[in-house]
Amino acid sequence: MKLRIALIVVVLLGLVGAVAAQDATPGGRLEIFSWWAGDEGPALEALIDLYSTKYPDVEVVNATVTGGAGVNFRAVLKTRMLGGNPPDSFQVHAGQELTGTWVVAHRMEDLTWLYEEEGWFDAFPQGLIDQLTYEGGIYSVPVNIHRAGVLWYRPANLESWAVEVPTTLDEFYATCETLKGLGVTPLVVGEAWTVIHLWETVALSVLGPDNYDALWTGGLSPTSDEMVGVWDEFGKVLDCTNISEDAAGLSWQQATDAMVGGDAAFNVMGDWAAGYMTTTLDLTPGEDYGWTDFPGTDGVFTWLSDTFGLPVGAPNRDATVAWLKLLGSVEGENAFNPLKGSIPARLDAVEAAPDLYNTYLQSAAEDWQNDRLVGSLMHGVVANERFVGDFTQVIDIYVQSRSSAAASSAMEAVCIQAGACGM
Ligand code: GAL
Repeated sequence: MKLRIALIVVVLLGLVGAVAAQDATPGGRLEIFSWWAGDEGPALEALIDLYSTKYPDVEVVNATVTGGAGVNFRAVLKTRMLGGNPPDSFQVHAGQELTGTWVVAHRMEDLTWLYEEEGWFDAFPQGLIDQLTYEGGIYSVPVNIHRAGVLWYRPANLESWAVEVPTTLDEFYATCETLKGLGVTPLVVGEAWTVIHLWETVALSVLGPDNYDALWTGGLSPTSDEMVGVWDEFGKVLDCTNISEDAAGLSWQQATDAMVGGDAAFNVMGDWAAGYMTTTLDLTPGEDYGWTDFPGTDGVFTWLSDTFGLPVGAPNRDATVAWLKLLGSVEGENAFNPLKGSIPARLDAVEAAPDLYNTYLQSAAEDWQNDRLVGSLMHGVVANERFVGDFTQVIDIYVQSRSSAAASSAMEAVCIQAGACGM
């Protein structure tokens, strides 16, 4: 009898040991699902390489759906999540895109315990953690902070056209006429989502940060005079673009290429464009390309954050937790961000290795500390996925009709349907 008990104890201890060992060194297959495909891929690949050196027994599957801003990706993710076939971890923006979609539907695990274990309450800014929080739980791990609405240009090209970087919308319209006269596209846009990105940037310029915030929280009506004014101004900016020419067929990289190649003078894009120009095109920030705040948005930083979470029913939970720990570490954030064109979400990562961060990234890190912050619409912070999806039609209505009243009214309906804009 004694022998039997001893044997059982030994077997049980063995099992406990096996589980502990499994925690320490995960194995099996880990599917990381994102839209960072092709020339958007190097930063993610660096992170996966680092993971693979740490966890050689895990086979990482880098599954991607091509298409900027995740517009194609989200449709595939929806099918998988609703079908009970979640990837181990997937890319999702901080804010409403996370909390208003899969968290509210109870399809994500609460990661508060991981934040406690890893000391992340001190590592990430509280304002960012708030955007990952829903009803007291924290639902994803941020790998970066990106800046939206940056005005990119080539200093040498502007010089050859004898134009300056505009600081007000009026200066921009004057520059626009000069450039048109020279046969240059003043401002290049691409496929639909890049036009929404431009719209949010113009809205911020016209409204200012207080009213911009109020629009998303219910303090400013989509049909107010101020909002009619946003659409009026958006129309004037659109008249300086290629919207009625080749825009719909251009990815954000191709639109950036048009600016780099000199067919266009300016591009309004997030700072993944800096990652693309530096990492992929091998251009030097501050020399080969320049950047500034879009006219009228000086001192305001439109932020967004790429995060990854743990879906309920993730096939390889241990390997996923190890992945999330790496994402939130100084080492992980410093492997990823210098290549991506973004800055770490952690407060202590840049100072741990400042030499990794080029002049653009240093300037973004400084602005992130000092500027007034507002959340991006297109990149998931201030409105939920349904609103962003349907807003494409509002933009179409405006582009077809050029009626600010029609666009304002359509926007109001979409706000109500999606339960966005504080409605
Ligand atoms: C954003 C994303 C960036 C970048 C960009 C272009 O939504 O946050 O990391 O991938 O789309 O695809």
